Amino acid sequence: MADQADKTSQQHETLVVRHVAIVMDGNGRWAKKRKLPRHAGHKAGVNAVRRTVEACVELGIRTLTLFAFSSENWGRPREEIQKLMALFVEALNKQVPELNEQGVRLTIIGDREQLPADLVRQIEESEAMTADNDRLNLVVAVAYGGRWDIVNACKCLARQVADGELSVEDLDESHLTAQMQLAGLGDPDLFIRTGGASRISNFLLWNLAYTELYFSESLWPDFEQKELEAMVGSFHERERRYGKTSEQVSGDHA
Ligand code: FPP
Repeated sequence: MADQADKTSQQHETLVVRHVAIVMDGNGRWAKKRKLPRHAGHKAGVNAVRRTVEACVELGIRTLTLFAFSSENWGRPREEIQKLMALFVEALNKQVPELNEQGVRLTIIGDREQLPADLVRQIEESEAMTADNDRLNLVVAVAYGGRWDIVNACKCLARQVADGELSVEDLDESHLTAQMQLAGLGDPDLFIRTGGASRISNFLLWNLAYTELYFSESLWPDFEQKELEAMVGSFHERERRYGKTSEQVSGDHA
């Protein structure tokens, strides 16, 4: 009896959305449709970030990870990159005090060595200001690539092996997980990409192994709370099997 209760509670546990990861695509097309410069789309994208953070707090989601700038985005026109970096500084400067009041903890992941000094300074201040909050972990990926993340983790482990702290035979998945940028935050339960494309585009490759994937036609600035709620609702109806049979997961085999 207790066993059955345990199984039921485990099953419910696996169906709760704790961590949502989003590729925020479609800002440029949103602006183009309105005959506005691309930057206007990115600015509207910041408003969608604010709305989504609030929705996640309301839905009781613990972690929201957003892809704001990829390793590949360095290939965009210089002017767009400069304006985006300035927008990140401005958004952090303006929004973080309010996020702090809401109990949001901010963490930036990605290769900081590639970022301009004023942005790194703003990131450090924002992270320090919100470090003690625990209502929602807001993780923003900037200058981030999933392959970079894996290579970076491998380098850390290679150093530990070279220093004699770790043996190659002992190496397992948990060592790599502990060195990834999302270490300690858990893998995303739900991945969402807006903007109509059905690709992961080098986001969180290691951590998305068992994540449920959702692709939305909405352009990011149009993404609304009700769409997020619908995705979270339909996640609850999906069965997560982690490679097991349906009977094993539902406990019918007992
Ligand atoms: C992709 O749309 C979006 C980006 C490269 C930038 C995303 C940044 C924001 C939404 C601002 C977020 C700010 C903070 C502080 C988190 P796209 O430009 O590729 O759109 P397109 O495919 O329509 O051209």
